[in-house]
Amino acid sequence: MQALRITLCAATMAVAFAANAAEVEVLHWWTSGGEAKAAAELKKMLEAKGHKWKDFAVAGGAGENAMTALKTRVVSGNPPTAAQIKGPAIQEWGEEGVLASIDDVAKKEGWDKLLPPVVSNVMKYKGSYVAVPVNVHRVNWLWVNPELLKKANAKAPNTLDEFFATAEALKKAGIQAVAYGGQPWQDATVFETVALAVGGPDFYKKAFVQLDANALKSPTMIKSLETYKRIKPYTDKNSAGREWNLATAMVINGKAAMQFMGDWAKGEFLAAGKVPGKDFLCLPAPGTAGDYTFNIDSFAMFKLPNKDAEKGEKDFASAVMSTQFQEVFNLNKGSIPVRAGMDMSKFDACGQQSAKDFQTTSKKGSLLPSFAHGMAMHSATQGAYYDAISQFWNDDKMTAKQAADKLVAAAKVK
Ligand code: GAL
Repeated sequence: MQALRITLCAATMAVAFAANAAEVEVLHWWTSGGEAKAAAELKKMLEAKGHKWKDFAVAGGAGENAMTALKTRVVSGNPPTAAQIKGPAIQEWGEEGVLASIDDVAKKEGWDKLLPPVVSNVMKYKGSYVAVPVNVHRVNWLWVNPELLKKANAKAPNTLDEFFATAEALKKAGIQAVAYGGQPWQDATVFETVALAVGGPDFYKKAFVQLDANALKSPTMIKSLETYKRIKPYTDKNSAGREWNLATAMVINGKAAMQFMGDWAKGEFLAAGKVPGKDFLCLPAPGTAGDYTFNIDSFAMFKLPNKDAEKGEKDFASAVMSTQFQEVFNLNKGSIPVRAGMDMSKFDACGQQSAKDFQTTSKKGSLLPSFAHGMAMHSATQGAYYDAISQFWNDDKMTAKQAADKLVAAAKVK
């Protein structure tokens, strides 16, 4: 495998850490302002351990392009050291026989005690850790430009009814209410959030985790689809294909008032020097304050050709789980640390609320995997759900009933 060119230091023993320095190639899709700042911290930390970072960044929100690039590399027998792979997809890759166990690092560092089981179970394939988690993103947020709300004399919305009232007030004041990126994963992100608000956590679980046909064709699903589509008149004509960070920029720059998006959006506000609570508001998405849709980023490790490369891989995994990394990375990324017992004092109110809500929702059963972000279902099923939702959003002739039927069919795809 040529992917891992091992850089053995010339003066082998001169510098202890350089004795088995490896080139660590990392596939990710963190290319927007906030994402790139967070990724830079990862690189720094790995280099501090004496390894060489080889960037394998593939642009495109939510990683669809990155996953295509990864498949090509693995199929040609040339995988990177680590790749951003999340949720059930870790099992799918495990089944291909290409992932490496990092159990010895995990055991030595006591990961089973540092991670909630909802996370550690996903990181293991056949009982062994093959991936390391980076963070917890909350997906069900609404990002708001308070200045524009003030101009329209509109209220920050807590419920869906309030949301539509605010959107209407903004529209009347000549302000674009919703910043929207029309890409399948973004359509699904907004849709799952609206469906959660309409149907509540039990409905969400049935429709997106258990893939229950009755829930998918129920009146609650029809109402969820119709409510989702009611947002469209508040978006602009140029939203088709727009990247999520460009939609966030519209809220930052006062071109639109609100965006439904996970808290990687906060990374964009912060990278633009904006202050939470003052320049922008982070609100639980209307109607979902008591629920939490989670999206956990993680890196899966590939089988490597030799010991030095493996050492680089294990050092990488260990760095990701360190308290230092978990803090600095997540401060930039908009997410919260996944490691238990972290000091949250440097995090802003949005981060602190997210950490608190992660705990409370986990106790009361409303901590839910985001299907739009690869946490809930097989990747092929997810793709079919995406298609049904995007088609419904884009085709104004399609009825909610037709879309619900498509979802029922999508649930059977694997
Ligand atoms: C998510 C990913 C986040 C963020 C977002 C937009 O799927 O988990 O870390 O980067 O996509 O690219």
